[in-house]
Amino acid sequence: MADTTLMDKLVSLCKRRGFVFQSSEIYGGLGSVWDYGPLGVELKKNVKDRWWRAMVHARDDIEGIDAAILMHPRVWEASGHVAGFTDPLVDCRHCKNRFRADDPRIKGTPGQPDAQCPVCGSKGTLTEPRLFNLMFKTFMGPVEEQAAVVYLRPETAQGIYVNYLNVLQSSRQRIPFGIAQIGKAFRNEITPGNFIFRTREFEQMEMQFFVKPGTDAEWFERWREWRMQWHRDLGLTPERLQWHQHGPDELAHYARAAFDIQYQFPFGWQEIEGIHNRGNFDLGRHQEYSGKKLEYFDQAANERYLPLIVETSAGADRVTLTLLVDAYREEEVEGETRVVLGFHPAVAPIKAGVFPLVKKDGMPELATALYHDLKRRFPAFYDDSGAIGRRYRRMDEAGTPFGITVDGETTAQRTVTVRERDSMQQERVSVDQVAEYVAERVGVS
Ligand code: GAP
Repeated sequence: MADTTLMDKLVSLCKRRGFVFQSSEIYGGLGSVWDYGPLGVELKKNVKDRWWRAMVHARDDIEGIDAAILMHPRVWEASGHVAGFTDPLVDCRHCKNRFRADDPRIKGTPGQPDAQCPVCGSKGTLTEPRLFNLMFKTFMGPVEEQAAVVYLRPETAQGIYVNYLNVLQSSRQRIPFGIAQIGKAFRNEITPGNFIFRTREFEQMEMQFFVKPGTDAEWFERWREWRMQWHRDLGLTPERLQWHQHGPDELAHYARAAFDIQYQFPFGWQEIEGIHNRGNFDLGRHQEYSGKKLEYFDQAANERYLPLIVETSAGADRVTLTLLVDAYREEEVEGETRVVLGFHPAVAPIKAGVFPLVKKDGMPELATALYHDLKRRFPAFYDDSGAIGRRYRRMDEAGTPFGITVDGETTAQRTVTVRERDSMQQERVSVDQVAEYVAERVGVS
């Protein structure tokens, strides 16, 4: 299967089955902004829930927060985003298209007569590169004046730094400890694309771990290991995950060291999460810009210091795309192609489909009762239309791990057929035990 074909097929399946829709589609869509449909919202929610469980609930040393998207404008001066969160751009004076200056499709040097526009092909019409800030601006209050400009946050991390003292003082944490957050971020990306990989509105799952100076390198290594394991535990193909270490020219202004976890997408190896040793840059800058002391007093050692920060920063949308890409497969079954999303059962949006074999002999009633019973424990789906094979195929495309059929034997023996998505093996299970049977296998207790 050609790689571009795989992405096209995935985008089309996502729309057809209700995973992802283009934003404002009836108006022609909004560039690189996407909406999650009924199945997509469940899939992404499962990603976020697993992250929250691993980072907050399963640990004693991390607290969660939910900071506002709008923050004081000085935050973005302190963080370096006002001055430095920029891409160099060039415009074509002829066709009015805009490109990143390092767009590999541009021939020649922008600003020079030899440079050629990659869209209209005109020569000498590309401007010199100009820096363009990626933050979205809006206005606070009724008057659209400069004093009222605020930004939509381009990362969630700053909401954690400015609340560091609040969390420290209101919880029983002592250094080393972390603060985790899941939330929306916005970037006016110039070359967005590849479906939900790079979008202008997206969700981050970020954690900032505050450590004593001198211990940062060792915490950085621990966090690298834990985060890679988290991705492997989602059931992703291990060979499609790798590390990419940032070279000196790639490091962000705040970072002492940085590694990306990359996934092999059909469009190449790309970052899904960054692990950064941010040193004392962030607290140092917020201390300087706010005038508020952010030092930590270590009572046991009787010393005062500015903590260093190890950050783990993953994109919820990118991880969701990774799951979709990794799960998609086509198989020949009895002369027909079956499309399967082979999700790890724990992240599958629907855990079980329930089907009466025929619409008579009391089967729909039994199946409906069973469906309502299952739905109390996990997401289930009822389907009584079409041949049973077609109903199985529909659930395969949605990535549903189990199909439960109520048939002639159900009334007599109180058993149902349970079909497993990947092996397509069928097993008879007692009606009274089928909820537990599925719950155990999808990790719902
Ligand atoms: N606080 C550090 C930070 O924001 P980043 O490498 O710019 O670092 C972290 O972003 C993660 O956020 C990325 O690994 C990616 O998963 C996600 N992300 C960043 N920009 C994105 C975009 N335009 N669309 C979707 N996800 C994005």
